[in-house]
Amino acid sequence: MNIAVIGAGYVGLVSAACFAELGHEVITVDMDKEKIARLRAGGVPIHEDLLPELLRRHHGKGLHFSTDIQAAFQFCDVAFICVGTPPSPNGDADLSFVEGVAQELALALDDHKIIVEKSTVPVGTCEAVSRTMVLHGARREDFSIASNPEFLREGTAVHDFLFPDRILLGVADEASRRALTAIYAPILDGSYYRRASSLAGPTNHVAKLIVTGVKSAELIKHASNAFLAMKISFINAVANVCEGVGADVREVVQGVGTDSRIGTQFLTPGIGYGGSCFPKDVLAFRSVAKSVGYDFALLTEVMKVNNEQKLRFVEKIRKALWTLRGKKLAVLGLAFKGGTDDVRESPALEIVQLLKAEGASIRAYDPAAMERARGALIDGTISFAADAYDACAGADAVLVLAEWEEFAALDLNRIRALLKLPILIDGKNVLQPSEVRKAGLHYYGVGSEAEAPLIDSGSRQRFAVGNSDLSHPATLVSASGD
Ligand code: UDX
Ligand code: UDX
Repeated sequence: MNIAVIGAGYVGLVSAACFAELGHEVITVDMDKEKIARLRAGGVPIHEDLLPELLRRHHGKGLHFSTDIQAAFQFCDVAFICVGTPPSPNGDADLSFVEGVAQELALALDDHKIIVEKSTVPVGTCEAVSRTMVLHGARREDFSIASNPEFLREGTAVHDFLFPDRILLGVADEASRRALTAIYAPILDGSYYRRASSLAGPTNHVAKLIVTGVKSAELIKHASNAFLAMKISFINAVANVCEGVGADVREVVQGVGTDSRIGTQFLTPGIGYGGSCFPKDVLAFRSVAKSVGYDFALLTEVMKVNNEQKLRFVEKIRKALWTLRGKKLAVLGLAFKGGTDDVRESPALEIVQLLKAEGASIRAYDPAAMERARGALIDGTISFAADAYDACAGADAVLVLAEWEEFAALDLNRIRALLKLPILIDGKNVLQPSEVRKAGLHYYGVGSEAEAPLIDSGSRQRFAVGNSDLSHPATLVSASGD
């Protein structure tokens, strides 16, 4: 099948490379000339596990890059819209990029095409794309519109694409259903997993095909992301209760999550969710509900818990260090989570800004996100370290703010020797408290009884007891594959 992917961002580029991996001819289009030049020269613009490998395999064979959207559209049978849909100030998704693409496609329409919306958009967007195309001269019978939302987590997006739980097709006609089923056939019939060249993963993987109407598919995407965000806010709220009553959230998650109706996934508490999807999608979904007269107050609470979680974490640091002015803090992790260089809506960056505002100085390290963090920080006066140990040298405390695998494997004795004060504050429950304490460090995690502050009346006694290390660690992501 000939495919055009419009937008070579985190979603578009991964999708394009994976379509080529499935055996299709793909042209990836982006309006960013520099990005396309870099891709054409063999560069990889984002940190995403396995993506470099796929680009190496298919670039110049089944995978091509262009800035010419009209030529790409004329080449393809099916065009996937993957441009960004950032939040606008009122909380609605800004769909102007999608609208712009629809106008371009209308002008380029030569024979019957299938246009597929992959970006996360509010329900009704496919209908609006269709209207826009007709307004710009396309004949309605010359194109089909479908929705095929992605469920890719940054950092594991290639794996999520090729080994999905489900493939969701929102279609209004047989032509779209047939074309999209054919595109995903190697995954759906399992033939991809039996290829000698297939990427590592289970050889007997089974992905479910779910075919719905267009509007239902659009809504499933928002509802899925909102539900996952709700799970995170729920467990963050439970973690806050645990801190108050002296329970350990790791034990609680194991006990609650073992119920197969609940499951342990997306129940790792921390400093709140971030990224380009959850914050935006919860807001946009609430906005969709409001537009049809329903007050989805549950989502308001999800956002409230999420925002407060960052402030509670800063309060935790304050409790551990008493005052923040003049304190030197080592920050490990700047991306919105481990495994990515993406800093959009990163809770770590928000926390860094809050700490800076209180007069602390920050020396930070992230395996992949330092360059993007440098560009994103409003107050650029933090310093960047060569590695985690460099960040800790002479610091009053170390804060872990993203779930990178390498942070779980830190040499804690070395960290202890480098720090001025023996304080480790783990915003992602990445480390095992007993290991940290064994190295002579005071451990402050999320959702377990607080330790007595080191810096108040000189007391060094620990309040927490029985903080056993049940193995429910955060989902960790390694920096390999870059
Ligand atoms: C995607 C989805 O599109 C978004 O809806 C979802 O919620 C998150 O994932 P993402 O791939 O992360 O967005 O966006 P981004 O990395 O910003 O990439 C978008 C790309 O589209 C950029 O490279 C941008 O240059 C390109 N673009 C944007 C176009 O080519 N044309 C446009 O008109 C607008
Ligand atoms: C998400 C969805 O998972 C994916 O299906 C969708 O298509 C795009 O949005 P992504 O934003 O890349 O993916 O990352 P995800 O792994 O979902 O994490 C989102 C945020 O939640 C991160 O800040 C992460 O640290 C946080 N998180 C996740 C938790 O705090 N606890 C958890 O248990 C899981």
